[in-house]
Amino acid sequence: MIRLAIQAKGRLNEESVEMLAEAGISVEQSKRKLLSRSEDFPLEILYLRDDDIPQAVSMGVADIGIVGLNEVLENELEVEVIHKLGFGKCRLSLAIPKGDEYTGLEYFNSKRIATSYPVILKRYFEQKGIVPEIHKIAGSVEIAPTVGMADAIFDIVSTGGTLISNGLREVERVISSEAVLISGKALEEDKLLIVRQLISRFEAVERSKGKKYMLMNIPENRLKEATSILPGVKSPTVLPLAQSGWCSLHAVVSENDLWSKIEQLKLIGAEDILVLSLEKMIP
Ligand code: PRP
Repeated sequence: MIRLAIQAKGRLNEESVEMLAEAGISVEQSKRKLLSRSEDFPLEILYLRDDDIPQAVSMGVADIGIVGLNEVLENELEVEVIHKLGFGKCRLSLAIPKGDEYTGLEYFNSKRIATSYPVILKRYFEQKGIVPEIHKIAGSVEIAPTVGMADAIFDIVSTGGTLISNGLREVERVISSEAVLISGKALEEDKLLIVRQLISRFEAVERSKGKKYMLMNIPENRLKEATSILPGVKSPTVLPLAQSGWCSLHAVVSENDLWSKIEQLKLIGAEDILVLSLEKMIP
């Protein structure tokens, strides 16, 4: 049994639970229950505030955790990023009142900057040789310039909607972040085995994202061209058909390329093309 810490509420909570569900791990969700057990995987979930997750993992209260990379970098604790999860993508940016003229980083010299991420920001400005006044506030950072608490802010930006609603303009992207799986000090062998199984399930989910399964009938003499249209495929499956001179070709394609591939395949005689959704890809 391993204990995984995830965010109790907020964006990463929903996406973490969804990722677990896609990996075949269901967890009981209740607003009041802060610890729950999965019925179908040796996993216990501990629901915490996101900024407490690195500490819980470094102390061994939880074996692993799902948290934004921004929290890992801010907390500077002894945790290791063991897998990038690809969801919860955002950036940590500097933003100023939209009417202010911005000529470069010197703008921030002696300026008051409100942020919940003072460690990351201090490190960044030290490298750049700029000396602002950094003020730590726990939340509602974007309102600080309007109410006179700060001249600028440093915070998470995802869609940019919060900045716009608060009359701010993003001027510097400092770091990119996404949800990551972290682990603390060396885990015992039985726990490591479970963590490896978990990561392998996550990878199967990630691999199938944005992918489709295609089947088509193709004249045998065009098979070579068909396989060159599907370059991402290591070895497409080719099955004989009852009708001589024809075969059935199966391949996995990226959703982005789907229509262009279909058009190219039709030009070389592909018929009866079926496109199916892909659940999991396990190598
Ligand atoms: C974060 C962040 C911003 C907002 C930016 O808050 O603090 O306020 O997202 O997102 P946007 O660019 O899509 O508008 P979040 O809603 O995650 O909650 P928090 O207050 O707990 O940080």
